Amino acid sequence: MKPDLQQKFSELFGQPATAAFFAPGRVNLIGEHIDYNGGLVLPCAITFGTDLLVAENKEGIFRFRSLDFDEQLDIPLLEAYTKNGGDWFNYPLGVMQQFLGHKKSIKGLDMLFKGDVPVASGLSSSASIEIVTAFALNETFNSGFTKLELAQLGKKVENDFIGVNSGIMDQFAVAFGEKEKAIELNCDTLNYKIVDCKLQDYVLAIINTNKPRQLSESKYNERVAECQTALKDLQKELKIANLCAIDTATFNKYEHLIENDVVKKRARHVIEENDRVKEATQVLASGDLTRFGQLLYASHASLKDLYEVTGVELDTIVDFCKTQQTVAGARMTGAGFGGCAIALVKHDAFDEFSKNLTKFYTEKVGYECAVYNSLIGNGVKRV
Ligand code: GLA
Repeated sequence: MKPDLQQKFSELFGQPATAAFFAPGRVNLIGEHIDYNGGLVLPCAITFGTDLLVAENKEGIFRFRSLDFDEQLDIPLLEAYTKNGGDWFNYPLGVMQQFLGHKKSIKGLDMLFKGDVPVASGLSSSASIEIVTAFALNETFNSGFTKLELAQLGKKVENDFIGVNSGIMDQFAVAFGEKEKAIELNCDTLNYKIVDCKLQDYVLAIINTNKPRQLSESKYNERVAECQTALKDLQKELKIANLCAIDTATFNKYEHLIENDVVKKRARHVIEENDRVKEATQVLASGDLTRFGQLLYASHASLKDLYEVTGVELDTIVDFCKTQQTVAGARMTGAGFGGCAIALVKHDAFDEFSKNLTKFYTEKVGYECAVYNSLIGNGVKRV
């Protein structure tokens, strides 16, 4: 347990924490806007994450505190909870709602959160909070959920409580991540494969656009709806349950079934991206980082031109990367509309890369980006 957090906990609640938990954030290496279309994604957990310290209290109150936000909540055990404004504590509150919905018995708990995943940056700070809360409740009250069930429950929080129609990728990666490994997850069957992520003399740079995120949730839901329309059109002749059930060659034959041209572009991205993930997993496992990098660039181009979720900030980062011999590949990661990009950068060149990119970005965009050298870490755990 981190001593500074332990001390803060005692100050805030007048009793020591009895247990501590940690859940990471994530990056997705490739396979974007695929999870809600039943295809393959390749995320990994990162070493940034959320710490949660807890202790039961006798008053039967759930007390939410965070060292990152001023807003706090004290709430008794109710039969059900609903979303309460836009504050951070809605994520753990949504998790409590899920536990109650599954008839699990929970009791008053003091909770202190502290995270270092940049908020609203596309690195899944929300999934990190959801999963650390779900894991902590599960352990504290012996609720008996499996890790997969906790990930599924986190997704339900997003879908039913927060109102984002997201897929399972983020919560799954946060729950199942492993140090220096990526996860190839089939979002239809939920079968997964742990893939060695040996980056040789490269490091994984994460670049935060620092773009204020606006309307990203409604635009996200719009993309989900467009994919549903594409699927419906294709189902006129094809017996498929999701877009990723077909490959690019099959799509080429049947794309005429899709009436709307914008919807057709969205579907093409999804189906081609899914094919890219298959190849990316193979080349990553065989250590061919040159090809892997080309696939990252191809993914970004498709998210820019076909899926239209990048924007000038993310494009500026990737455009800069393309001019650098020390970069193997780069792309946006997560939902897009701002947020973060990832780049595979030669280890020795990282500092120079970071300095030059920041200068280039600031000149073009008007404010600074942040560059992190991130490590691939473990999934949720007790600490
Ligand atoms: C967000 C969602 C995920 C996934 C990505 C895009 O991170 O939460 O479910 O759809 O966007 O790949």
